[in-house]
Amino acid sequence: MAERRESPQSDLTSALAAAHDAEGTISEEELLASLALVIAAGFITTMNLLGNGLAILLDHPDLTRRLRLDPSLAPAYIEEMLRYDCPVQVLARRTLRETTLDGLRLPARASVAVLVGAANRDPARFDQPDTFDPLRTVKQALSFGAGPHYCLGTMLARLEAEIAFKMLLDRFEDITLAGEANRHNLLVLRGYTALPISVRQSRHVRGAQVAGKALS
Ligand code: HEM
Repeated sequence: MAERRESPQSDLTSALAAAHDAEGTISEEELLASLALVIAAGFITTMNLLGNGLAILLDHPDLTRRLRLDPSLAPAYIEEMLRYDCPVQVLARRTLRETTLDGLRLPARASVAVLVGAANRDPARFDQPDTFDPLRTVKQALSFGAGPHYCLGTMLARLEAEIAFKMLLDRFEDITLAGEANRHNLLVLRGYTALPISVRQSRHVRGAQVAGKALS
């Protein structure tokens, strides 16, 4: 933060520091907490989306072949990956006043764990919720939350995943599981500690390397 105040750059840290200094609406502590939140919220979540999404592709070879043939389907695949195996499973809330939710009375200031992973598999909303179906028409999963705290990084996360999966499938024509996959056992986040794979480079990548060597 001190560095960016000294020589501002075109980045979020400089913008936050400038807003803080100009308006003084957020405290120094909130400023640092916001930066820490962006790092944690922006990194681990997307990492788990990439791992969970890759595991889904390995489990569904026919659908993966379809995506290879038509990479423009990538956004639909990523939406469905987010619904089917979402990186953030639980959100925490506190009731402001006494309220009743689906027949359950909650007192004021009650802690509520919202199970978004379960909501994303709700048969009342999603037809055959346990099936990975990128072409399903009903979307609106809760993977990025809802309301005032709706995820700040949805567009970035979707873009990162689209670029990563398109590149992976383009670069490697064969991707298979090469050992035991292990999930971490955290309550809130869902993802892998290990997902060993073996890959074979695509013919066009091998061709480009051979051509490169011939020229050099
Ligand atoms: C697949 C990737 C991601 C998933 C699944 C995800 C999920 C979520 C969810 C569920 C929330 C709502 C939290 C709540 O209501 O209590 C949230 C909030 C947030 N996310 Fe993400 N996120 C992802 C990527 C990112 C990225 C890339 C960034 C930033 C670079 C980011 C920044 C944030 C921030 C700052 C908040 C808090 C917003 C607020 O409280 O107003 N997220 N995210």
